[in-house]
Parts: sequence; structure tokens; C-alpha cells
Amino acid sequence: MPQVLEFADVVVRRNARNIVDHVDWSVRGDERWVVLGANGAGKTTILQLAATLLHPTSGTVTVLDERLGRTDVFELRPRIGFASSAMARRVPPEETVLNVVMTAAYSVLGRWNESYEDIDERRALRVLAEWRLDHLADRTFGTLSEGEQKRVQIARAVMTDPELLLLDEPSASLDLGAREELLQLLGGYAQAPTTPAMIMVTHHVEEIPVGFTHVLLLRDGAVVASGPLEETLTAENLSATFGMPITLATEDGRYAARAASQNPGDR
Ligand SMILES: Nc1ncnc2c1ncn2[C@@H]1O[C@H](COP(=O)(O)OP(=O)(O)O)[C@@H](O)[C@H]1O
Ligand SMILES: [Mg+2]
Repeated sequence: MPQVLEFADVVVRRNARNIVDHVDWSVRGDERWVVLGANGAGKTTILQLAATLLHPTSGTVTVLDERLGRTDVFELRPRIGFASSAMARRVPPEETVLNVVMTAAYSVLGRWNESYEDIDERRALRVLAEWRLDHLADRTFGTLSEGEQKRVQIARAVMTDPELLLLDEPSASLDLGAREELLQLLGGYAQAPTTPAMIMVTHHVEEIPVGFTHVLLLRDGAVVASGPLEETLTAENLSATFGMPITLATEDGRYAARAASQNPGDR
């Protein structure tokens, strides 16, 4: 399986500080990565590099065999799906769900005046069904629940059939039911053989869907550990990532973490 992303000694420097600090990382087409770290660890910045929205201060970023700085990012971007709440805030609330998803084919937000081929509409309806949104196709984006809006963001990101799918905290701020529904959909998607490489950012291990294969642990912009989930997502590595003693439990492919008891008598 070919590589879809490679970071070599990548630094992003802002205000005399490395917010991405000498990161080496590579992702293959059949891998589904979780990027995990505390608030401010650099997760979104890493995703923006992968999305070609940002260039490194030093080091090299290669996305889908194209090296940033030596390639036309406007040709590269349609091959990458990116869903984030920052993006969702730019969707006009009066836009219909079908249009929000369908317009991804043109990399614009909002319908404006393009004429769409039937094939785009058929594909959009298929993608909506895949993300349990078909009954909402004619609703306006602004009237949806938060969980439904998150699913629309992802549907929009997969509409162009990307070779790399990037999700920035897709289940943040959802209630338990909406989170579990989304994790089930993401897990099913992650396990399908035709799914592209995925990278999902989160700061909660509880939000790692079944079917994800690898994890990159970040602290202060630097890699604490990276590799296959089973061997890399350990209490020890999590403790180093979050700077406190943490215990980790696993059940049916899902994870739960909490602070380790400070009082030996509690155990
Ligand atoms: N353009 C910028 N200028 C200065 N600091 C920034 C900029 N973008 C992000 N940062 C800082 O870099 C750190 C990492 O940010 P970010 O990648 O958004 O972290 P995360 O997504 O893990 O919460 C944070 O401390 C943030 O305040
Ligand atoms: Mg972030």
C-alpha cells in the first residue's frame, strides 16, 4: 500500500516557539490514524499541514506523492477531504443539506450559480444515505442538531471521493447518543475496504472508533510515540502525553482513560 503522507523533520514556528516540533511521521493508504494530545498540543496544525493549508517553517511535507512548496496545492486539495468545525462555521445556515454536500464537488461553500450534473446529485444522495442523512436532504444546515451537522461535514468531505480523509475532532461537543451514533458510522466507514487513508484528531481516547489502526501521540508539538494502536496506546504513553499518571481500560475495541489514583489506599 503506497504512502499517502510523509512528514520529515517538520517544524512550524510561531512567536519564537515550535508549535510543531521536529515531527517525523508517515501514513499509508490502508491505515486509519488517530492524532491524540491535550489542547494546544499541535493537532490542528498537523492536520492543516496534511490538508496543504499550511506550509512548514522547515522540514518537508509530502502529501499524495506531492511535496509542499513544489506543487500546485489547488490541484492537490480536491484529492483531500477535510472536515472541521472551523469549516462548518463557514456554511451558510440557510443552505440545504443536499447542496452543502453536493457543492464539495466544486470546492466552494454555498450553492451560488453552478449547474450540477445529475451524477453529482446522485452521488450526494448516496453519500447522505451512507451517513444517515438522506431524510434531511432538503433541510437547511442551520436547523440541524449538532450531531447531524457533524455528519454533514463528514459527508461533504467524502463527497469528492478523496484519497486522504482528515477529521478534526468530529465528535467534540456531541451528547452521548450523538457521539455513539457517529462513532458507529465512523467505525463502519473505517473498516470498509474502499475507504481512503483517514486521520482523525481527538483529545479523548473514548472517541476512538473501532477500526482505527494507528495513533500519533503529541505533546507540545513533539511526538511522544507513534505506531499501531495496540502497542502504542498504553497507559505509560498516555501519561507522558498528558503529563499526569493515567490508567487505561479497553473493552470491545474501545478505550477509556482516567487519572490514576494518587492514593494507594484507593486501589
Ligand atoms: N497562527 C498561530 N500563531 C501563534 N500561535 C499559534 C498559531 N496557531 C496555533 N498556535 C498555537 O500553537 C499551539 C497548537 O495549536 P493547535 O494546533 O491548534 O493545537 P490543538 O489542535 O492540539 O489544540 C497552541 O498553543 C496555539 O495557541
Ligand atoms: Mg485543535
